[in-house]
Amino acid sequence: MVFFHWTFLFHILGIGLIFASLLGGLVIHFRFRGTRDWKSRAVILPVARIIGLFSPAGTALLLLSGIGNIVALSLSPMPFWMHLKLGIFVVLVVLGVWGAVLARKRAGLVMSLSTGNPSPDAEAKLRSAEAFGSSVFIVQGFLFLAVIAISVIKP
Ligand code: HEM
Repeated sequence: MVFFHWTFLFHILGIGLIFASLLGGLVIHFRFRGTRDWKSRAVILPVARIIGLFSPAGTALLLLSGIGNIVALSLSPMPFWMHLKLGIFVVLVVLGVWGAVLARKRAGLVMSLSTGNPSPDAEAKLRSAEAFGSSVFIVQGFLFLAVIAISVIKP
């Protein structure tokens, strides 16, 4: 295998990790959104946390293997589609970090509701955090598909 084959292989693995984290997170988020069964929600939190860890691992892998791809293919100067892709990638990373902070806040609220001594407005706070979390997930999903489309079409 030549250098590009290796970098490309890891690139595909990175795409898989991000896809798994987005899809897994999305399924858990929408499956439990609005559910008042706080105990079951507290049980699913560690699973959600593990799926969430796929995201930083995939991001690091994509960045390193992407740089490897650029070097292996001698993409210099970088074409327009690559700039576009990197711009969207940065937005995705920022949204990912923000999404993780929001998820941690939601987890704290679910834990307080499941242990039975929540603050009076905990449920209302959770509802609005969930609604916002859904929008972040949907935007991330579209941006991820856009990056794949740009990578394949190379406009
Ligand atoms: C969400 C993030 C990303 C996704 C979904 C993604 C997706 C893809 C896909 C599907 C391909 C294969 C395209 C093809 O062979 O037709 C590809 C290739 C490539 N990617 Fe990424 N990528 C991502 C991030 C990055 C980053 C951060 C970099 C650079 C630092 C990068 C650099 C490259 C390069 C140089 C290629 C080879 C292009 C070519 O064959 O001409 N990618 N990527």
